[in-house]
Amino acid sequence: MPELDLDVHLTEEDLAAALREDARSGLTATPKRLPPKYFYDARGSALFEEITRLPEYYPTRAEREILADRAGAIARITGAKVLVELGSGSSEKTRLLLDALREHGTLGSFVPLDVSGAALRDALGQLHAEYPDLHLHGIVADFVNHLEVLPDSGTRLVAFLGGTIGNFTPAERAPFLAALRARLSPGEWLLLGADLVKDPAVLVPAYDDAAGVTAQFNRNVLHVLNRELSADFDPGSFAHVALWDEAEEWIEMRLRATRPMTVRVADLDLDVTFAGGEELRTEVSAKFRRDGLTAELATAGFAVRDWWTDRAGRFALTLAVAVAV
Ligand code: SAH
Ligand code: AVI
Repeated sequence: MPELDLDVHLTEEDLAAALREDARSGLTATPKRLPPKYFYDARGSALFEEITRLPEYYPTRAEREILADRAGAIARITGAKVLVELGSGSSEKTRLLLDALREHGTLGSFVPLDVSGAALRDALGQLHAEYPDLHLHGIVADFVNHLEVLPDSGTRLVAFLGGTIGNFTPAERAPFLAALRARLSPGEWLLLGADLVKDPAVLVPAYDDAAGVTAQFNRNVLHVLNRELSADFDPGSFAHVALWDEAEEWIEMRLRATRPMTVRVADLDLDVTFAGGEELRTEVSAKFRRDGLTAELATAGFAVRDWWTDRAGRFALTLAVAVAV
C-alpha cells in the first residue's frame, strides 16, 4: 500500500514566531495591516470552506466548472507524474485533476502543501480513503518561504488554485512567481487559477455575503491573535468591511473599529490603540486581466499555453510552462 507522508517544515512554534513578528510590525504600522495567512487555523479553514458554498462566492464554482471541462486536456498536455498543490486547503476541486491524471496513467504522487496543518491533515485523511493506491505526500509549509521543499521526482504540475495568487500584492507576486519558476525545470507546468476583473456589483457581495460568513472569517484573525498572543481583541467591536479598489483592481478586506479602544497584546508587551472608525487591512484579493497576467508570467519565466474561462467569463485557469531563462 503506498505511503502517506506528512512533512512539517513549519511547526506550530515557527508559525507562532512568524505571527509575533508580523503582528508587531502590522499593528504598529500606519495604516494597520495583517497578512492573510493567519486566517487559516482550523476554524478559519472551515469558514473558508463555508464561503466556497455561498451563493455570492462564485470563484470556487467557476473554477470547478473549468476544471471539469479541462482536466482531461491538462492531463494529456502535461503528462504530469507529480501533482503539487500550493495552498491546497481541502483539495476538493483538485480531485478532478487527480482523476484525470490517473486516467491518463502518468500520476505517481500528489503533494498538497499548506500553511494550515489542520486543513492539510483533514484533507490527507479523506484523500487517503478515496485514493488508497495513490502516494500522498503532504507538506506543512509557507509557499512564500519554503518552495525548496518541493519534491523533484518526475515531471511536475504545480497547481495554485482558487485565486489565492490574488492574495499577494503585485510587489509580493513577482518574487513569488520568480521563486516558483526557479524551483522548476524547463518543460514543467504551472496551473494557475485567477479571478477576473468584473463589475463591483458582483465582486463586493462575494466578499460581503448576506449570511455574514465572510465577516466571521475576517474577524477570525482576531480570535487567532487572542489565542496565540494572549491579546484581548473584542471581535464584536470590529465591523467587517469589503471594498473594491478601482485603481489597484483588488478587493480589500478590513476590520473597522466601531469605537475607540486600546487592545493589549500581552505576549508582545504591546498596547495597540484604535481610533473610532480606524481600519485594519486583513486581505487584498486582486482580480486579473488576461494581458496583465500573461505578461507577469512571462517576466517570471512561464509561457502561457492555455487560458480557459468558465462560461460566464468570471474566472480564468491558465496552463503555463516553465521556459528556459
Ligand atoms: N486552494 C483551495 C484553498 C484556497 S484558501 C481552493 O482553491 O479552494 C487558501 C489556502 O491557502 C488555505 O488553505 C490557506 O491555509 C493556504 N495559505 C494561505 N497562505 C499560505 C502560505 N503563505 N503558505 C501556504 N499556504 C497558505
Ligand atoms: C483564498 N482566497 C483566494 C480567497 C479570496 O477570494 O481572496 C480568500 C477569501 N477571502 C474572503 N473570502 C474568500
